[in-house]
Amino acid sequence: MGRGTFEHNYQALNLPELRAAEPDARPVLLQLGEGDQAARVQVDVFCGDNLAVGGWLLDQAARFRLIYIDPPFASGKTYAARVNGAKGAQSEVIHAYTDDAQFDEYLRWLEARLTLARDLLTSDGTLYVHLDWHAVHYAKVLLDRLFGRERFLNEIIWCYHGPSPITSAFKRKHDTILVYTKGRDYYFDADAVRVPYDEATVRTFQSSPKAGFGKVPDLARGKVPEDWWYFPVVARLHGERVGYETQKPEALLQRIVLASSAPGDRVLDFCCGSGTTGVVSARAGRNPTLCDANPVAIEKSLLRLRRLTPLPKLRVWRYATMIPE
Ligand SMILES: C[S@@+](CC[C@H](N)C(=O)[O-])C[C@H]1O[C@@H](n2cnc3c(N)ncnc32)[C@H](O)[C@@H]1O
Repeated sequence: MGRGTFEHNYQALNLPELRAAEPDARPVLLQLGEGDQAARVQVDVFCGDNLAVGGWLLDQAARFRLIYIDPPFASGKTYAARVNGAKGAQSEVIHAYTDDAQFDEYLRWLEARLTLARDLLTSDGTLYVHLDWHAVHYAKVLLDRLFGRERFLNEIIWCYHGPSPITSAFKRKHDTILVYTKGRDYYFDADAVRVPYDEATVRTFQSSPKAGFGKVPDLARGKVPEDWWYFPVVARLHGERVGYETQKPEALLQRIVLASSAPGDRVLDFCCGSGTTGVVSARAGRNPTLCDANPVAIEKSLLRLRRLTPLPKLRVWRYATMIPE
């Protein structure tokens, strides 16, 4: 897949149905093409505020083995999306979403969503909360309170590199993903995410049976990854880029989805942005539910989902809870 493929084809979608003039009393199922009705994978995509959508899902008794959320980070910035790209021509930059709430207000916003996420998990389910230095330490305290400190599973450091204007401090080039389980017994498939040992380790153990601390690793089977992961950010030359500024790499989501859900499980991302969790989950045979308040994010997600082979069953919902400006 070539550079910016999705950006260039963006004009294929512009869905006025996602934007309501009046609030909806409940989610409205839109007639936007239902995907392949014979498919194994069911994808539900909601355009609306995640608190309203999540509350409705809770009422419907929907529960999820895996919930990943990549909410606004309290960065104080506004973010853009690229649309109407044509091959060889400059695409148009439009506003995507704003992340500039006052910090206390932001934390109240986040706490309501984290509480909902906890309630939407299955008893053996796992929540991944993706943040960075702006708010992650506050979120850790919130999550300890909501789940109990003993339900903390991991603090994953996602490292990347790239340009930075900072010269008066070290460059801030990692995000933090906090992981909590709903219960003491939880699903975790270590074998699904094993990686090869690094070459130096393999050389050491091949050189002498006495290497290490008396334990000889199974070099052929590979190891369970550490809690720090390097994956490059989605950059201009990457084929998966869809022109949504905070898009996360598929490789990052793939590790999460494979470790903490099984084929056939329901997976939720209620700040789905460009739909990364949805495409990765559907490809892996999970049933994703996505939600975003921004119609442009939903359009980007649909564009990606509709290019999957095999095509999943697709339902698109709108749940407008306030009149747009
Ligand atoms: C960091 S981005 C997610 C990016 C996504 N992980 C991806 O790979 O493209 C955060 C998203 O949260 C959405 N968002 C913010 N407030 C929301 C709300 N109240 N309900 C639903 N989505 C919301 C924004 O529109 C934005 O798309």
